[in-house]
Amino acid sequence: MANTIWTSGCVTVHLMDGVAVVTLNRPPVNALSHQFRAEIAGAIAAARGASGLILTGANASFVAGAEISELGQTQSPTLRDLIATLAALPIPTLAAIDGPALGGGLELALGCGQRIATDHSRLGFPEVALGILPGAGGTVRATALIGAQNAAQMIATGKPVTATEALAMGLIDHVVAGDVVAAALTLIHQTPTRPAPAPFDAASFDTAATTLLARAKGQAMHRCIDAVRTAATSDFDTAMAHERALFVQACATPESRALRHLFFAERAAAKVDGLDMTLARPLHTIGVIGAGTMGRGIAMACADAGLSVILREVSQPALTAGLTAIAAAYQASAAKGRVTDPAALIARITGTLSVADLAPCDLIIEAAFEDTLVKRALFTELDTALGPDKILATNTSYLDVNEIAAMVRRPERVLGLHFFSPANVMKLLEIVRADRTDDATLATGQALSRRLRKTSVTVGVCRGFVGNRMLQARNRQLSALLLEGASPAQVDAAFRDFGWPMGPFEMQDMAGLDISWRMRKGLGLVDPLPDALCQAGRLGQKVGMGWYRYDQGARSPMDDPAVAQIIADIAAAQGITPRTVSTQEILDRTHGPMVAEGHQVLAERIAARASDIDVVWVNGYGFPRHLGGPMFWSDPERG
Ligand code: 3HC
Repeated sequence: MANTIWTSGCVTVHLMDGVAVVTLNRPPVNALSHQFRAEIAGAIAAARGASGLILTGANASFVAGAEISELGQTQSPTLRDLIATLAALPIPTLAAIDGPALGGGLELALGCGQRIATDHSRLGFPEVALGILPGAGGTVRATALIGAQNAAQMIATGKPVTATEALAMGLIDHVVAGDVVAAALTLIHQTPTRPAPAPFDAASFDTAATTLLARAKGQAMHRCIDAVRTAATSDFDTAMAHERALFVQACATPESRALRHLFFAERAAAKVDGLDMTLARPLHTIGVIGAGTMGRGIAMACADAGLSVILREVSQPALTAGLTAIAAAYQASAAKGRVTDPAALIARITGTLSVADLAPCDLIIEAAFEDTLVKRALFTELDTALGPDKILATNTSYLDVNEIAAMVRRPERVLGLHFFSPANVMKLLEIVRADRTDDATLATGQALSRRLRKTSVTVGVCRGFVGNRMLQARNRQLSALLLEGASPAQVDAAFRDFGWPMGPFEMQDMAGLDISWRMRKGLGLVDPLPDALCQAGRLGQKVGMGWYRYDQGARSPMDDPAVAQIIADIAAAQGITPRTVSTQEILDRTHGPMVAEGHQVLAERIAARASDIDVVWVNGYGFPRHLGGPMFWSDPERG
């Protein structure tokens, strides 16, 4: 029999079989705000007279950690105080986990004498992704429980583990099925047996740490390793003090401020103010038009999400090539252990040559050749063959979605879905709301994005939308910089030092210089330097030479005197005398226009928020995450 003995705000204490069951209910994820911690402290006090205490969460969540918007604040009771109180209780305590137990949530569970979890629970320390480390004793208690190697792996990578993995390393004591509280009541008075943690071995710890740190971006991972090492080699109080000092330092870093900004920016970007998501149509079958690189990627992204796909091409050889490439990609993933049932995924994608066969589709995404005439003709054909009510999306990256929508009887049913290549890997999706797109169509696009687990941003119509439009602004000065005296290698190094994964010239070599050449020609534009490279057959890595040269089959760029000569010849023809160009000038003349274009995009309401622009750049273009995105980085007011 349950008997409520205490309740306050988001916390309730029931007495069951003499045991106090403390239920945390602060939707959506039981994040530990200051107010919530105070309520939990009250509940713990109320439970003192019971024969045991079970801590559990409502909302299919245990606790997703500290309230991120309050990080760095120290209002009493702190999470450390709360956990210390819990750990010092003279009665058995058990954390009954059903859902995410993350960061401060896992630290809270570690303050209990035992932990049990259902098999859909996830346990982890994601703090590193916020530029910090666990700050409420997590590095110390986890190291004591599961050993330094396991703790370092969990804390430095931020990757959560399953209940079964947690059990194997001793992080929890039982994996349970069904009602977690009922299971907790049967286990709370038992003494758990758990594997002893591996003893600390400095040499192997340092080797593993070096491997982990090779992937570190920013300083957070270094602090995580430092805290775990100290936990393994010091007494409890010293380790706790060291963790606290590192946590305070980390919370104050620009890196952590930037990463916390992105945490909320990504979640805000996924929503459109005032949009009624109940208008979204159900999604079962998606039509994809075009079996080229983009179409294949979109089809695979949909199949990965459990959707059926009908892939349409204009010719049998093109269709066969597309389907064969998809099957090969799934088999390759299976060989690497990333996919368990490739045949099931392959079977979700069927092919057709006929637009009429797309009739069963709930939404059709066109990924045909990037040419407005091709796309407009296709939309006319779709409208004729499938009627006026199908939701139609274009995957264009530059073209005018309004013009394409104008080809159908009900343009309200048209939107843009701008995927990034490879579409089954890249997280970003620009959802383009055309002038006449209605709410049901937009909501369906949003629903698809969520189903595909994309990070989406809703944008308006303009040439290149948010990302490519700003990219063009960023790249506008590139030729001028080279003609004035910078080298491709110098520009690329300046970008890499800034934190980009690669520089703009390396990127162009990888993508192929002919892509933008074709686009310039289509628009009647001339850019003498890259045009000259293309005319000389220097189309990038695929032909072994572009802005750099490449040894046969190799991907590492090497300086090429022939490129220097082309640059010198054009500079001379234009009367430009080369000079020394500084790294700062390179960054100012590329990043300055990019940010200015971002402000213009906001002024035109192509993007709803500055933070949406940051989400686009971090997830689609490799802007360094620890700098928070171009708008955050360039904002003099940032935290
Ligand atoms: N603080 C504040 N808000 C949080 C939060 C947190 N720790 N975790 C999630 N939320 C909010 C989100 O902002 C979102 O709000 P919104 O609906 O208003 O946009 C809502 O909860 C739902 O979150 P998601 O959209 O991410 O929902 P999902 O179901 O996709 O994912 C989750 C749920 C796995 C719990 C995911 O939200 C998550 O990973 N959360 C972050 C966990 C985290 O980083 N914890 C560590 C915090 S720092 C810490 O604990 C320090 C400590 O060591 C002292």
